[in-house]
Amino acid sequence: MEKTLYFAGGCFWGTEHFFKGVDGVTGTVPGYANGSLDKPSYEQVYTDTTGHAETVRVSYNPSRVSPAKLARLFFASIDPLSLNRQGHDEGTRYRTGIYYDDPADLPELQEEFSALERRLGAKPVTELLPLRSFWPAEERHRDYLEKNPGGYCHLPLRAFKYLRLYQDLELMLGDEPDTVARQSQTAAMIAERMKFFWTGFYRVIGGELVLGPFQGPPACFRIARGRGVCGSAWEQERTIVVPDVEQFPGHIACSSESRSEIVVPLVRNGAVVAVLDIDSTAPGCFDGTDAVWLEMIAALV
Ligand code: SME
Repeated sequence: MEKTLYFAGGCFWGTEHFFKGVDGVTGTVPGYANGSLDKPSYEQVYTDTTGHAETVRVSYNPSRVSPAKLARLFFASIDPLSLNRQGHDEGTRYRTGIYYDDPADLPELQEEFSALERRLGAKPVTELLPLRSFWPAEERHRDYLEKNPGGYCHLPLRAFKYLRLYQDLELMLGDEPDTVARQSQTAAMIAERMKFFWTGFYRVIGGELVLGPFQGPPACFRIARGRGVCGSAWEQERTIVVPDVEQFPGHIACSSESRSEIVVPLVRNGAVVAVLDIDSTAPGCFDGTDAVWLEMIAALV
């Protein structure tokens, strides 16, 4: 059995390419959803007066991927707080939304929207509505980024790498129960795919952070709560992105080669149990794309 769900994520070239990379997706068609005009052309929709949203019809095998998981991955590919603007594209046709053709999908989608709102601490502007209409786009818009490699894409290349990494990691970790084994495999896979300078875990043990599984040069053993980027992320229970380590008061330099850093807390039952720490030798290496995907990965480990 095949099911469908419709995603408006800004420019449909990038959103279609994104969903082609999701395991369990069996087909994608870019098009125009929930507007007032039948069979609109790209040019008509481009006037931004027809009410359509650039949307991708996603067909999927429900025994391999759920509407909830599709929504969760989709949320990592958009800015759910940005109204009528994604990347460089602006207009109501670039609004974000999930449109369903099966009302039975609504409860689990609503649950994902609530989880998103908790994570953001604000109400997403992304729509959740029944699909009223969908008109496939002109042939030239289909598989656009495959036909035009290197063509315009509002999504950063890194989002596609993280999508692959996230899904592979999920498969790899499976139901392995040992935490050290899971953290080791995760550090190795992130390092191998993303080529960061240092990737690893510090675990909360006896009131301080203790070095855990990692990939990269030797690092300091212990970090006190509230100290350095790691201790701050633990104390504040939030992801910290540091574009320039020299500008971060109290940064602990395990290596003089590190220029930028991101630290993501791992929370279990409401408490931080470890942090995922990643360093780069490039300044400003990390941004919101890294934060959102590494938080998804942290929730897997
Ligand atoms: N720079 C970190 C210390 C750990 S190393 O980066 C591996 C910090 O300031 O917490």
